[in-house]
Parts: sequence; C-alpha cells; structure tokens
Amino acid sequence: MITGAAKGIGRATAELFAREGARLVLTDVDEAGLEELRERLAGEGAEVETVVGDVSVPEDAKAMIEAAVERFGRIDVLVANAGVIPLSTIVDATPEDWDHVMAVDGRGMFLTCKYAIEAMLETGGGSIVCLSSISGLAGQAQQAAYGPAKFVATGLTKHLAVEWAHRGIRVNAVAPGTILTEAVAELPDEYKEPMLEAHPVGRLGEPSEVASAILFLASDEASFVTGAILPVDGGYLAQ
Ligand SMILES: NC(=O)c1ccc[n+]([C@@H]2O[C@H](COP(=O)([O-])OP(=O)(O)OC[C@H]3O[C@@H](n4cnc5c(N)ncnc54)[C@H](O)[C@@H]3O)[C@@H](O)[C@H]2O)c1
Repeated sequence: MITGAAKGIGRATAELFAREGARLVLTDVDEAGLEELRERLAGEGAEVETVVGDVSVPEDAKAMIEAAVERFGRIDVLVANAGVIPLSTIVDATPEDWDHVMAVDGRGMFLTCKYAIEAMLETGGGSIVCLSSISGLAGQAQQAAYGPAKFVATGLTKHLAVEWAHRGIRVNAVAPGTILTEAVAELPDEYKEPMLEAHPVGRLGEPSEVASAILFLASDEASFVTGAILPVDGGYLAQ
C-alpha cells in the first residue's frame, strides 16, 4: 500500500513497485489522479486497487488497510507517504497551519501505521517505510510547522521499529532532500535556488531516486534493517 500515490514521490514509488510485480493498493485524496494512475498501471498488467480517502481521518485510514486485506488477503508493505509541504516562518504560520500539517503528516502517518501493524500482526509481519525528510533530521528556515511534522515521522519510525521488531515488522524511513515533484516545482525560485546550492551533488533529486531507496527498505534485501532513517539527499546531511 502506498498512501499519497497520485503525485510526486508516491506515484514514482507506485510505478517502480508495479514494475517489480507488486500487487498494489494506492490511496489519495485526489480521485482523478489516482484513477489516471490506476488505469495506466493496470493497462501495463499490474494488479491495482485504489482507495480515495484522507489519511488523517481514522475511518478512511482503516478503510485503506481493509481494502488490502479484502483484495489480497494481507498487507506486506506500507509506504506512509501522503503529506502536505507548507513552508513558512513561525511568524507567518497560523495555529490552523500547524494543526493541518500535524493532522496529515503526523496523525495520518500514525493512523496508517497503526492499522497496517494491526493487520500485519495477523499475518506474521511486514515492512513499513515512512517519508521523513532532511527537515525531520535537521533545522532549516521556513519549516516552522512542516519541519516538526517530519520529526514526527523520524520519531514514529524509531519507536515503532523497536516496539514491533520481535513480531517480524520492520519500520524504516527515507529522508529525502529537495525532490523535484510538482509540489516543489511550484515553490518560488527564491526558495529553490539556495536549496540547490545546499545539496553537494549540485542538483535536486528526482522522485524515482527516492522510490529506489523505498523499494530497498521495503524489500527482503533489507531484512536486517529496521529503525533506520536513510537520507536520500545528494549529500545535504553529510555537511
Ligand atoms: N518533495 C520533496 O522535496 C520532499 C522532501 C522530503 C520529504 N518529502 C515527503 O514526501 C512525501 C510526498 O511528497 P511529494 O513531494 O511527493 O508531494 P506531492 O504533493 O507531490 O504528493 C503528495 C500526495 O499526497 C496526497 N495527499 C495530501 N494530503 C493527503 C491526505 N490527507 N490523505 C491522503 N493523501 C493526501 C496528495 O494529493 C498528493 O497526491 C511527503 O510526506 C513529503 O513530506 C518530500
């Protein structure tokens, strides 16, 4: 299952997992984007279920996991990717901005991990990959609400990894640098240009480069990896 699959990193991950032969449950609030992706991947031979819903709403998050169990009998992998990326200083951010990003990026990740783990416990284990960020490991300007929400992703990953390792559930995260998704492409150049210079490789990342790291962490190739936060950041955090 991949949440927030209609665009960006989630869509690139769905495309890669489909090429690897995964049976997919793709979820998003964007019904049209989800349907376009489902039709394309199904046309290429993938088995795809979709669920339109909001990860921050418990009934929706539960319905996403139930769809996987009903269609495929189990959930082996959750990619907890759905998120919003609001950028502002603490002076500009409102209490509502804080609540919104914490609801989607924080509570939404908590809920999807919770229901996925409950289902994985029934079938002997699984693998979860959460979307943290360089903003979930280091401080940056303009991240007063979003950055702390990504620290939630980092923290949830580590705590759940320890809590469930003995039951065969691995929980890891990727921490992307700035990735050229539609959301990032729309940001003002005044934000993007200094970010580009801050990445030692001298460019921003591609969604497919994050998808490859997610695939590794999700797979049995990473069988002894849990609680890891893997930077996929062109060297940003190495400085
Ligand atoms: N793009 C980056 O530079 C970057 C860097 C680090 C981390 N991330 C993280 O990667 C994840 C994906 O980001 P992206 O850049 O691909 O963003 P994006 O906006 O391109 O895609 C996010 C997807 O999530 C969906 N979504 C939003 N709110 C939702 C909700 N409440 N319920 C279900 N789906 C919802 C959107 O409709 C969209 O399809 C996010 O968690 C983000 O924090 C992105």
